[in-house]
Order: sequence, then C-alpha cells, then structure tokens
Amino acid sequence: MPSGNPLNAQWALVTGAASGIGRALALEAANEGHHLALIDFDDAGLVETARLARSKGATVRQAQADVRDRGALEAACGQLLQDGSVALVFVNAGVLRAGPLWMMPAAEVDLVLDVNLKGAINTLATVTPRLLAQSQGSRVVVTASVGALTAAPELGVYSASKHALWALCESYQRDLRALAASVEVTLLCPGAVATGLADHEGAMAQTMRERMAGPSALSAQALARRTFEALPTAGFWLFPQPDYLTPIRRRLQRIIDQEDPVARR
Ligand SMILES: NC(=O)c1ccc[n+]([C@@H]2O[C@H](COP(=O)([O-])OP(=O)(O)OC[C@H]3O[C@@H](n4cnc5c(N)ncnc54)[C@H](O)[C@@H]3O)[C@@H](O)[C@H]2O)c1
Repeated sequence: MPSGNPLNAQWALVTGAASGIGRALALEAANEGHHLALIDFDDAGLVETARLARSKGATVRQAQADVRDRGALEAACGQLLQDGSVALVFVNAGVLRAGPLWMMPAAEVDLVLDVNLKGAINTLATVTPRLLAQSQGSRVVVTASVGALTAAPELGVYSASKHALWALCESYQRDLRALAASVEVTLLCPGAVATGLADHEGAMAQTMRERMAGPSALSAQALARRTFEALPTAGFWLFPQPDYLTPIRRRLQRIIDQEDPVARR
C-alpha cells in the first residue's frame, strides 16, 4: 500500500482525467491508494475529478495541459511529479470524430490524429525518462480501443489513430525490453463505453452517441473496475469486454486466409 509520505508516494498519472474513462480510472487508482497526478485541457472537469478523488482521501495534483503540446506536457509533469515514483501511467486523452474521410473537414482529421496519436507519443516521450530513472517498476496503460483491431464504417480516421497506437506500443515495449527496463506496457482496448466522447458538433456525432449509448455499452466506472481487476496479471493486451474478441478473431483469420475484408455488393 502506498505511503502518505510524498517521498514514498506512488503516483498514478492520468491524461484525459477530466471526464469519462480517465476520471473513472483516476478514481479507481485513488481507491487503490495511489496519489493522483491528473492532466487534461478541460480545467473545470479536472477540478471536479480532483474533488471526487480527494473525497476518497487521495492526494491529488492536477495540471491543465494539451497533450498535443510537448512543452506543456513536460511542464505539467515537472510540476506534478516532483517527488515519489510513478507506478501507473494512463495515456488516455482522446477525441472522436467520424464520417467518410472525404467528408471530414481537414481540421477534424488533424484533431483526431494529433490528440490520439501524437498526444500519446508526446505523453510517452515525456514520462519514459522518469520511469527509466526511478528504481521502482511501473506500468504504462495506453487507452486504444477495439478500433485498434477493427475498422468500422465511418470511423476510418479514428480507427487509423487507434491502429497506430498498437504499432507504437508494441515497438515501445520492444525498446523497453531491450533495456531490461521495469516498465510494462498494456494496450487497453475498450468497446462501447457510455461517456461524452461523441458530445460535440458534427454530422456524425448523433449516430456515434447512439452507438455508444447502446445496451451493450459499459459505464466508465465498470470499465475502470474491470481494468484494475485485470491489471495485476495483465500483459500487453487488455480487452475489458471480451465479446469484442469475436469480430477481431474473424478479422485476423481473414487476413491469414488473404480474404478481402469487405464483401463486394
Ligand atoms: N467511450 C468509448 O466508447 C471508448 C471506446 C474505446 C476507446 N475510448 C477511448 O477512451 C479514451 C477516453 O475517452 P472517453 O470515452 O472517456 O471520452 P471523454 O470525452 O469523456 O474523455 C476524453 C478526455 O480527454 C480530454 N482531452 C481531449 N483532447 C485533449 C487534449 N488535446 N489534451 C488534453 N486532454 C484532452 C477531454 O477533455 C476529456 O476529458 C479516448 O482515448 C477514447 O478514444 C473510448
């Protein structure tokens, strides 16, 4: 159990901590006795997550930062992680925009790729030197999606950003293993989770909101609980909703069989 002394503290760093899955992961980390270092660019949401975590007795520091801005992330981590060691890093901030790619405004394409992919790269690049320098082991959990392994209609750009996280993290783990570093990497692949991810303007937002609010969608709290239950024995892959493994298995088999992914109409 982590100690209350900041010098012995074990921090859990969470990006995208102001709402949804990030907030729920932060609150689960608080339940497990971690100190919390929270990052998001939504300051009001961050303050609320911090309030909820403090009400559980957690020590909390928070910093407003945009994960697209490497300098801002470095400043935030410098401010948040001055003492103790980092046990858990949740690379979680993300956005969703949807539509056939030729109908998506260029600014939306940039947003998805910059936050979901470059934001993750920035976060990993910022925290990894700290993780390598500390004597205590750590685990980095990157929130990808089942969209890292499937390609649904109208989600091409989003799925591409999440597929990229798979390659990024697999290579990252190889680089860490080559150093015999005590840093484990887990790719968290949720399916539908009821959050505000699709609460934005845009032609496809309503469709996405309906999909994410469907009967099979998990609450963010349930997703976070399943994640924390699985983490002690988790390897690289973490699928909190195993039903999604069926279409993934089918797709992988089609690749091996060299079958086209989409049947001709
Ligand atoms: N909700 C789902 O069904 C679902 C499924 C699979 C994966 N995911 C992934 O889970 C992660 C969390 O999403 P969520 O569903 O909790 O949605 P959410 O919108 O509730 O949370 C996303 C958080 O990221 C923050 N954020 C966005 N851009 C940022 C930036 N540039 N810098 C800093 N913070 C930023 C937002 O302010 C927000 O607090 C995302 O990576 C998302 O792709 C969600």
